[in-house]
Amino acid sequence: MGITYYNQERVLKLDTRSASYLIGIVDEENFVGHIYFGKKIDDFDLQYLLRIKEAPFVPSKNNGDRLSFYDSFPWEFPTHGIGDFREACMAVETNLGHSAVKLGYVSHKIYKGKPKLKGLPATFGSEEECTTLELLCIDDALEFEVTLIYTVFEDIDAVVRSALIKNAGDKVCYLTKALSLCLDMDDKAFDMISLHGSWGRERHIQRQAVGYGKKVISSLRGEPGHQDHPFFALAGKNSTQDTGEVYGFHFVYSGNFMAGVEKNQFDNIRAIMGINPCDFKWKMEKDSYFQTPEAVLVYSCDGIGGMTRQFHDLYRKHLIRSIYKDKKRPVLMNNWEATYFEFDTDKLLSIAKEAAKAGMEMLVMDDGWFGNRNSDDCALGDWTVNEKKIKGGLKYLADEVNKLGLKFGIWFEPEMISPDSDLYRRHPEWAIAITGRTAGLARNQYVLDITRKEVRDYVYEQISSILKSADIEYVKWDMNRPLCDMGSGALPADRQGEMYHRYVLGLYELQERLINDFPYLLLENCSGGGARFDPGMLYYSPQIWCSDDTDAIERLVIQEGTAMVYPLSVMGAHVSDCPNHSAGRITPFETRGYVAMAGTFGYELDITKISEEEKQMIPEQIALYHKYHDLIRTGDYYRIASYSENHAFDCWQIVSKDKGESLITYVQVLNRANCRSRQICLKGLSPDKKYKLSTSEKVYFGSTLMYAGILINNPWGDFKGGLIHITESIS
Ligand code: DGJ
Repeated sequence: MGITYYNQERVLKLDTRSASYLIGIVDEENFVGHIYFGKKIDDFDLQYLLRIKEAPFVPSKNNGDRLSFYDSFPWEFPTHGIGDFREACMAVETNLGHSAVKLGYVSHKIYKGKPKLKGLPATFGSEEECTTLELLCIDDALEFEVTLIYTVFEDIDAVVRSALIKNAGDKVCYLTKALSLCLDMDDKAFDMISLHGSWGRERHIQRQAVGYGKKVISSLRGEPGHQDHPFFALAGKNSTQDTGEVYGFHFVYSGNFMAGVEKNQFDNIRAIMGINPCDFKWKMEKDSYFQTPEAVLVYSCDGIGGMTRQFHDLYRKHLIRSIYKDKKRPVLMNNWEATYFEFDTDKLLSIAKEAAKAGMEMLVMDDGWFGNRNSDDCALGDWTVNEKKIKGGLKYLADEVNKLGLKFGIWFEPEMISPDSDLYRRHPEWAIAITGRTAGLARNQYVLDITRKEVRDYVYEQISSILKSADIEYVKWDMNRPLCDMGSGALPADRQGEMYHRYVLGLYELQERLINDFPYLLLENCSGGGARFDPGMLYYSPQIWCSDDTDAIERLVIQEGTAMVYPLSVMGAHVSDCPNHSAGRITPFETRGYVAMAGTFGYELDITKISEEEKQMIPEQIALYHKYHDLIRTGDYYRIASYSENHAFDCWQIVSKDKGESLITYVQVLNRANCRSRQICLKGLSPDKKYKLSTSEKVYFGSTLMYAGILINNPWGDFKGGLIHITESIS
């Protein structure tokens, strides 16, 4: 494992636990080519795979047709404008108006550990856990240095990549495209799997064949958005959940992105990922640097499930930093769907009292506690407690909640400003807008220009003084509209193209400050549900609100898509009231509990108003959460049945790392008459271990449970679910 340079062959070999990644340097012009990424191999002398001897593509011997070489060579970091007509990773605008970049290898270094990426979220690991390669390339004409940074982890089949770009010359130049990742390879009859959606319908799985041309997913919303997610996978046509090759690509970034795949005339595949070049133009002065965000590349030869488990392990171990990362999260009661804006201290305390009795551990006060905020058309930016509603003040409320034995949490939307707010009346220039044009509102609000330091400082002071004023142990950081009308009064004309990225950097700086100053905080990110559910935000908050749609059945699809890449421990999921506020559906209370159990678990309903029968079920649900959540948070995730594919039945399983314990959750969505029981085959167990099921007196070998399977009786009715707990039997 690790990274080795083979001097004579000019090959760099990066090895993970069961995958290899090979880079070759060729020709006297030192082109950097991608040789191989896939199942672990023992040889390194594989330059032949670069096909540089295949006429007419020999670069140095064929000056008459160099373009044939450029346009077919598998590049590690392709550049724009020299004759590779596929999607490039880098382009510029020089003082003479040119856009081309041509890179050649200069040197490299290999070292233990991993560098931090300045101002950006990124995976991390100790010197024992990972090895890094820095490959320095140069464009002599442009006088640009580009360092390609690769890190491999000892225990996970992931390669993470980014590029550090430096203007080493005297002339000012603009970076117009700076992607983070390219993977060139021959087509293996790939399908592209991606996650798409809408508000309330985030991260639905889509699988489609890769054909000639480009398939691109992207965002220009200033955040990843509900619509596209900065992830895709390339899966062999016959790859399933459990078998076949799958390559997963994920972007550790919370802003505009572009990612996708292209199949060319030679049946070569190019996968790319990075900051969306549209509306991106970064000024590079002499000696200035631009660091691209990190992209994660995962390889699995154990199907989609294998890829999923690599991502889960990588993020749990090498991305999330919170003190809560390895801890069971408090079962919380959030008042949003219980009260919306209509609450006061008495109402919150009445909810808290019942929540405490039922065994909950935290009360979260959502939107509506500040300024004049009684609806969504005012007061964002006025972060002072509304004492008409919060009678007695925030400290009193938090203390009373604490006296009931609950922790106290609070909601903010720090990046926003309402036109009807004291802040806007004082500082209209702090709202993002183009001079001379009225910016568009969304949810009645503008976006604060957090690219400006004074704005960040102001917002931060507001939040931090609230947090210091009472015993607040949780923050929900919300963000409820996309960015547009990009214009900053604080940036010169030739830096306006930096605004989207500067906004994201500003956001990261704010959250970094917050978690450094309040390290005990449980931070939950949120964006109108799950519009900013991305690995970048996970670096700051160990959980993210998955979706505003809390309907148990809709959530099956949302959570299946989310869990394809993210560990269950990060998915905000609550039991809510019925008829569900988004879908109008009525589902059994038990089922709502089983579904929320696949996430961080909590409640979002008026516990003072639900039926006595439902209230009685809460302590039992909470007991299940306490019993199983260590396993759910730390175990290996397997998908058994997909409701989004079969439209009838959902089932997932979690297996402890030592394979001694497992939990299965299922939901039968629609029942049918005259149906026989359902057979499911379990996964991930040890074939030789004996296991006892919570639903049977008998003991079975893991092989039996996995290959012959078990039967689940059709529950009577729709939307019915259940849990099966499996423990190793020593007898
Ligand atoms: C959107 C969030 O997703 C909801 O949970 C809630 O916090 C509202 N915003 C409040 O405005």
